[in-house]
Amino acid sequence: MPNEVHIINHPLVQHKLTLMRRATTSTAKFRSLLREISMLLAYEITRDLPLKLETIETPMATMQAPVLAPEKKLVVVSIMRAGQGILDGILELIPSARVGHIGLYRDPQTLNVIEYYFKVPDDLEERDVLIVDPMIATGNTAIAAVHQLKQAAPHSIRFLCLLAAPEGVERFHSEHPDVPLYTAAVDEKLDSHGYILPGLGDAGDRLFGTK
Ligand code: URA
Repeated sequence: MPNEVHIINHPLVQHKLTLMRRATTSTAKFRSLLREISMLLAYEITRDLPLKLETIETPMATMQAPVLAPEKKLVVVSIMRAGQGILDGILELIPSARVGHIGLYRDPQTLNVIEYYFKVPDDLEERDVLIVDPMIATGNTAIAAVHQLKQAAPHSIRFLCLLAAPEGVERFHSEHPDVPLYTAAVDEKLDSHGYILPGLGDAGDRLFGTK
């Protein structure tokens, strides 16, 4: 389905997002909240992961029980560096997921995206990819990441963030109408420096305590 934006408005997600937005929230708390919220987001967006039946023995009987289809392991691609916070949470929930990294940063003057790292599993054609980055602001980083991933022709691509700006969502959809976007909230607007308002500040700085 084209042009999908899914707002994950589960009460626990919304509550934790509010705690993360607060300027008084410490780095340690921000980090643990991002981990927790990522697990909840991952829970919501993995509803359609394929299952297969396996024969197991319970203490009582033999049964056919569902397990995740192993041949199509999900690939989570983290946009460095703030994507790491979401990746950590998802890996707690899906430890067998494969992992890719894309290093992209925004030039603070031009807001253009510069790529400095790209490493993903070889065999993406058979796999579903979930790209993660806490923020979609201008959308430039998300657009560039999807563009790079598409070169590897994965089976499917979805994008997960925590917060998005309407401007970024619109741009993302116009560039990649085939890629569904999942977020906990779409905020009001961008400021003149490309930050989301009201937002939560710089996700990387808040996660790693670099400011
Ligand atoms: N990146 C962030 O970390 N925060 C914003 O508000 C925008 C981009």
